[in-house]
Amino acid sequence: MSEYPEPSGLPDLENLASLANEMFQALPNAAPFFAGISGLQAAPNAGGHPAARPQAGVTSAPPPMTSPAVERHASAAPNYYFAENANQYPLAPIHLEQLISQVEQTAAQVSPQAFGLPGEADLRELLGENRFVTQAPAAATRPAAPDLKVPHALESHVGNYHQPQSVGSDRVAAQSLHLPGESDIQQLLAAEFSVTRFDAPASAATPAPDSRFYFLDSGAQPVFGNTLKTNVFAAEQQGFDVNAIRRDFPILAERVNGKPLVWFDNAATTHKPKVVIDRISYFYEHENSNIHRAAHELAARATDAYEGARNKVAKFINARSADDIIFVRGTTEGINLIANTFGKQRVGEGDEIIVSQLEHHANIVPWYLLAQRVGAKIRVIPVDDNGQILLDEYRKLINSRTKIISVTQVSNALGTVTPIKEIIDIGHSFGVPVIVDGAQSVSHMRVNVQALDADFFVFSGHKIFGPTGIGVVYGKAEHLQHLEPWQGGGNMIADVTFERVVFQGAPNRFEAGTGNIADAVGLGAALDYVDRVGIERIARYEHDLLDYATHRLRPIPGVRIIGTAADKASVLSFTLAGYKTEEVGAELNREGIAVRSGHHCAQPILRRFGVEATVRPSFAFYNTCEEIDLFISVVQRLASARRN
Ligand code: ALA
Repeated sequence: MSEYPEPSGLPDLENLASLANEMFQALPNAAPFFAGISGLQAAPNAGGHPAARPQAGVTSAPPPMTSPAVERHASAAPNYYFAENANQYPLAPIHLEQLISQVEQTAAQVSPQAFGLPGEADLRELLGENRFVTQAPAAATRPAAPDLKVPHALESHVGNYHQPQSVGSDRVAAQSLHLPGESDIQQLLAAEFSVTRFDAPASAATPAPDSRFYFLDSGAQPVFGNTLKTNVFAAEQQGFDVNAIRRDFPILAERVNGKPLVWFDNAATTHKPKVVIDRISYFYEHENSNIHRAAHELAARATDAYEGARNKVAKFINARSADDIIFVRGTTEGINLIANTFGKQRVGEGDEIIVSQLEHHANIVPWYLLAQRVGAKIRVIPVDDNGQILLDEYRKLINSRTKIISVTQVSNALGTVTPIKEIIDIGHSFGVPVIVDGAQSVSHMRVNVQALDADFFVFSGHKIFGPTGIGVVYGKAEHLQHLEPWQGGGNMIADVTFERVVFQGAPNRFEAGTGNIADAVGLGAALDYVDRVGIERIARYEHDLLDYATHRLRPIPGVRIIGTAADKASVLSFTLAGYKTEEVGAELNREGIAVRSGHHCAQPILRRFGVEATVRPSFAFYNTCEEIDLFISVVQRLASARRN
């Protein structure tokens, strides 16, 4: 029997409970979602983690439920913080039509006013009127837009929703009946209009990566806008709704100098979707503990969350095993790790390390330090005048003294996409291992470390919509198992005496001390997000954006584009005659547009083109043609002012 009294004229609570269940079942499985839903915030850990079975009498009870039906649902809720369940509950599309029909059925018996439920006007206000009009999915490629017609019974409620939900003689707070509140509905609907509308990328349906997405036809005549812009809009029609995507990134609503923020500094760092921010908060609110070390509940949750993130990384880049994934602070620490383990083991006096002229400092300085220490030499693959690697010159550099080759997949300063597969294959044909710097590639194209046959692959979380302070080294098991540790401490040992230390195997052997647990979990959420949007969709859309921006920027008098390779991703470096790069950056900032201006931590490649600095807009999939138009108008204004 219900513990809540039923006010007269109100329906059977069982009825409401099943309505609530329908709504809960429709919710996506993102942890923070559950956190906000009354009655589900403490996902019950039925049975507990094997490493930390709760002791009898100390199990934290789930929150009280008003109805056995709700309780049943809650106890069946996915125990999402356990790694073994991580893929079992993919984010499900929310069936609003079904939801509304449930509401309609129940509405026949229920007076909505009595429950503080929203009416159509309230829902429209929550969503913003124009979402109903402009965000309808294209019929050919997506399921029909949900019919957001609100039942008549609810229409009469207009105006009541924002009144305080006090329990009065004829009104009952929705929460007391375990119905969702305003914020829950907001989250629910925000999710519906966001990436959940896309099909989960199923392997059979996923189009094969298409390198043409990165081709800019450098020989083509400039096209002033419309055709290319239409391409971008076409991409949107094909299932990429940039406005929906933008709503997932809270910071994109920021204003800078009174203008809407335009973030064109994605090569430096990317912004974080709300699911990533919420996932990190959720970790600290519900899972925070050190990992691998204690037989208590939170240690189990934190360990599972962290190892779950490692699994997600492995899957994202198609590593053979999660054991091949080492968490580090970022690309820089990753390459230092490799130089100080693999490099130290392989490179001796008189040996040679090959890098390319495109490398950023993170893929130069660690090798320089190693070479200095052991008396080795760095050899540099040159690039052509467009900024593409010269494969013939590369071949000529390799000899019996070459011990390591380390090359970027995408240049951070020029945007060049290098022919990394050929570089790896050529290296291997000489028996030399190849390290791939994926800092600028992993967020723009499908990476498959096994297909590439990379010996190591390194990237940073913050450049793929994850947190700062977390990054990844992938290494082939055949290398990792033979490497000495590079840092010593807890977590990486199996046994310690003062005479002898036994180390763990990979990956723990390379993760001494307490790692960045929460941000690894945040990175896992970021990769899930990218997966939901679909990396191939991202690649196609970003290609069109870069194409559009390039063709609009190139004809402006005084503009010199630095880096004109046929195959580019995201980056559009340029100089403007008559202006220092920081002056251009400052003028763009006045309009709220963020670009990096300077040497981009890649001085050698800029000097190859005779410059010390460039202005560098760099795009991500939340950028738009309208933002590019604004950027172009500022550069045009500066260019005309110079001529006068
Ligand atoms: N490597 C980062 C950049 O390109 C910091 O801006």
